[in-house]
Amino acid sequence: MRIILVGYGVVGKSVTTVLARKYAEKVKDYGFNPKVVAIADIDGAVINQRGFSPEKLETIRQRGYPISADPEFGRPRMSALEVIETVEAEVVVEVTPVNIKNAEPALSHITTAFKTGKHVVTTNKGPLALAMPALTELAAYNNVYFRFSGTVGGGTPILEFAKRCLAGDRILAIRGILNGTTNYILTEMSQNHVTFQEALTNAQKLGYAEAEPSMDIDGFDAACKVVILANWIMNKKITLKDVERTGVRDVSLQALEEAAKRGSTIKLIGSIDGDKPTVKPTEIAKTNPLCVSGVLNAVTFFTEYAGEQTVIGKGAGGMETASAVLRDLLDIRHKLATKPT
Ligand code: HSE
Repeated sequence: MRIILVGYGVVGKSVTTVLARKYAEKVKDYGFNPKVVAIADIDGAVINQRGFSPEKLETIRQRGYPISADPEFGRPRMSALEVIETVEAEVVVEVTPVNIKNAEPALSHITTAFKTGKHVVTTNKGPLALAMPALTELAAYNNVYFRFSGTVGGGTPILEFAKRCLAGDRILAIRGILNGTTNYILTEMSQNHVTFQEALTNAQKLGYAEAEPSMDIDGFDAACKVVILANWIMNKKITLKDVERTGVRDVSLQALEEAAKRGSTIKLIGSIDGDKPTVKPTEIAKTNPLCVSGVLNAVTFFTEYAGEQTVIGKGAGGMETASAVLRDLLDIRHKLATKPT
């Protein structure tokens, strides 16, 4: 499977690390044999149509920016779009930073990949938050697979759990902590009395926060995930503007202390229950299974037959999110291997 990687930040680098380990393991699940043939970043690309060796991927990672300075394979100033259009590959892995104003450049990367017959795996919430119904239709129209497991829950298989493990049941409502950064901040504030700003700075250092911190703290990131869950799991056709959203800027240390006296705490909860999907700080009992600490995410599915099911896992981080990319690549490989001819 030839892969074009678009975006070379925390997640992009982790994807190359995970894939390099897979080559080395020689684990050929469903004949899975990934080869990164190109990496495109903001200022150029590296291309090797035969596929980069694990050692070369490591050299590129260690050399850092700009990747296009590579003497052998570097293509300074070559755009990601040009790479997607001209390099032969089966899959584009799109992991550029999130933009929820117009979803670019990821939206063009994804639609161009579809139009050139390439499957897409993305961890980028922007295109899904703004245009998910259209994108899933476009993928189907072009007869390609579109996977985005890493957009919700980092490495935690929240979408797969709902889609596959609860298949046949009816999901009536979803509630959850969908943003690792704000959960980390609220946990640090309530348990260690760290200030909001200090906790945010730590989350950025740990690679949890988005490039634009407002994405996390004003609840946009969680709202994007609500959109993805609502569309993919509950068959709604909504976009970001349909989510009522309040972030965590106004959650004070005092409010957290008051909640603690009642055996509760305050969490940023995303909810799809009834007509209006919401994201807002909500007081919940410390005994609630959703009440998880640090960068953890937790999502409860309220189902018709199986009752309440809660999935918990680390919701952010490069390697965790890269594991979701790998899962999606394997899923595509499996689908291709079992597709009737
Ligand atoms: N900034 C996001 C978070 C990353 O903190 O949850 C994972 O989507």
